[in-house]
Amino acid sequence: MEKVKKIVYGGDYNPEQWSEDIWEEDMRLFRLAHIDIVTLNVFSWAMLQKDDDVYDFSKLDKIMEMVRSNGLKVCMATSTAAHPAWMARKHPDILRTEHNAIKRKFGSRHNSCPNSPTYRKYSALLASKLAERYKGYDNIVAWHVANEYGGLCYCENCEKAFREWLKERYQTIEELNRVWNLAFWGHTMYDWEDVVVPNLQSEEWFWDYTRTNFQSISLDYRRFQSESLLACYQLERDEIKKITPEIPVTTNLMGFYKDLDYQKWAKEMDFVSWDNYPAHDAVPFQAAMSHDLTRGLKQGASFWLMEQTPSVSNWHPYSALKRPGVMRLWSYQAVAHGSDTIMFFQMRRSIGACEKYHSAVIDHAGHENTRVFREIAALGAELEQIGGLTLGARTYAEVAIVFDWDNWWAAEYSAGPSRLIKYHSEVSKYYEALYEANVAADIVSVEDDLSQYKLVIAPMLYMSKDGFDEKIRNYVKEGGSFITTYFSGYVEDHDLVVTGGYPARFRDILGIWVEETDAIAEGNCNHFQYKGKQYPAQILCDLLHLEGASAVSAYEEDFYKGMPVLTEHEFGKGKAYYVATASNKAFYSTYLLDLCEKLEIVPVLAAPAGVEATQRSNENGKFLFILNHNDKTEEVTLPYGGKDIISGKTYTIGENASLAAKDVMILHSM
Ligand code: GLA
Ligand code: ZN
Repeated sequence: MEKVKKIVYGGDYNPEQWSEDIWEEDMRLFRLAHIDIVTLNVFSWAMLQKDDDVYDFSKLDKIMEMVRSNGLKVCMATSTAAHPAWMARKHPDILRTEHNAIKRKFGSRHNSCPNSPTYRKYSALLASKLAERYKGYDNIVAWHVANEYGGLCYCENCEKAFREWLKERYQTIEELNRVWNLAFWGHTMYDWEDVVVPNLQSEEWFWDYTRTNFQSISLDYRRFQSESLLACYQLERDEIKKITPEIPVTTNLMGFYKDLDYQKWAKEMDFVSWDNYPAHDAVPFQAAMSHDLTRGLKQGASFWLMEQTPSVSNWHPYSALKRPGVMRLWSYQAVAHGSDTIMFFQMRRSIGACEKYHSAVIDHAGHENTRVFREIAALGAELEQIGGLTLGARTYAEVAIVFDWDNWWAAEYSAGPSRLIKYHSEVSKYYEALYEANVAADIVSVEDDLSQYKLVIAPMLYMSKDGFDEKIRNYVKEGGSFITTYFSGYVEDHDLVVTGGYPARFRDILGIWVEETDAIAEGNCNHFQYKGKQYPAQILCDLLHLEGASAVSAYEEDFYKGMPVLTEHEFGKGKAYYVATASNKAFYSTYLLDLCEKLEIVPVLAAPAGVEATQRSNENGKFLFILNHNDKTEEVTLPYGGKDIISGKTYTIGENASLAAKDVMILHSM
């Protein structure tokens, strides 16, 4: 990305929704706020294409000219996240069908069926026309295909395409019957035409499609839908690449978004970008975890923060204001975890429809005299001063946390053993404990190389995919440490149970056999001790036997009192740990920090609770980001000397630095 020389600052700009006399005023305000990039053309399909063969780029031409003459960079969107009304009227195949089988009419956005021939044809064509028309604009620094892809469709086109997808994957109907275990309830299929989409009309129930009679069918449908939308992205990307091969292409992701397997998507993207909208009651580790997921999607490469709100998000249950300093703090948090940009949704607040009470750089007041604008302008000035020092810097973590979308879908479709099975939340417990101690973690996929890590944690890895156990076996044999938990290793890639005792493929590595599992109702618990303190055992309690491992702790109650709940197993040169239940925050902190100490995994910074620290490095040196999330001043002792690239102040090794409430420093050292 040679055209980018500093942390890019700006966001979604929709001048086509405003009269032209406003545009010049926008330019003035952008200059005041040190804005240097705008994302254009996100929702303009209806303006650009008025009929099958009628295109009109005149307004976009004007906008492009104005933006270029004002020295702004452009992140160029393709407008294909919402189709025009006329298109839905003339070509109804573009409309999605819902889980309850209702065929949608025109309305909303993200509303096109990913297998609609009309959508595929016209979206690719529009991308191509845009690339051709604007290829001469050297201020376009990235292409932004569609917007926040998502959702599922259950229409007839999808059903047909699903059959083709299955044929390619399984070749014969016999194999389909095997992988879906269709002998159950006499579901044997004799013809590909017997395959129907799993929705409320067939195998699934509950409006949020979380319950299904056949997990393997639902799982394959999820895979298929994620790939169908990805195919739409690829079609547009390929058209763009034919014309402007040197401009990187992305689409904005959404962190832990369950419907799309982002680990597959990222492979098709030149760089990843995402939209960060922490809930009104979010705690800082949650955004940090999503940033780390995003960074991990491209094996540690820096990413773009494509959107965040300057203050309120109208679609949250409560539109809480970002308190003074919080927009800046969270912006730097993104950079601390790997972002090369700070971008907003949106530049000017709309006056109509559902986002009119969503904040923007320019508020309804229309001028610069607002708290939010002043904070944005101040941050803009800081970013100008920081320049490009941190661009492309990488994080070097010694811990990896495994996250897998197929596992997410499979574990949560599982009919039993507990409705409290929540994959993302189980992974979060391990992440949070490390985060609070400022131990850096990468979030990796089952395909990533693990050899660089001292510790690999795979919580609730219900699905042990072909080959992953072998990767872990070798990793531990070579000296690695591995933790997994209850509800791991049950099924293979098709959600068929691996027989012979849980956790099946991981048994020899962990040196245990899980014979039974007890589900604990919400609010109840068993107990166990760790290092002299008692902790709760919740959600599931495995009743396990040692097969080479040693017990570190045992249950204290019920008929399985005395059975092991924490185990460790020497395996080759390494060790494998098993946590047979879910516990509380205090337990995860103690347990994981003990392990880090044993493995000599050092925190980035020893700091008071609420003070976050990360480190990134590039050819300019290393950068220690210190973020004070607390409402009071905090002191930290610096592990090395250097210069704070925000305040310009220099420090020596071992010196104390004091950070005001919500303040940030970035200590740069060569
Ligand atoms: C998403 C979308 C934007 C806008 C914002 C509002 O991230 O990409 O178009 O709707 O939400 O928060
Ligand atoms: Zn469809």
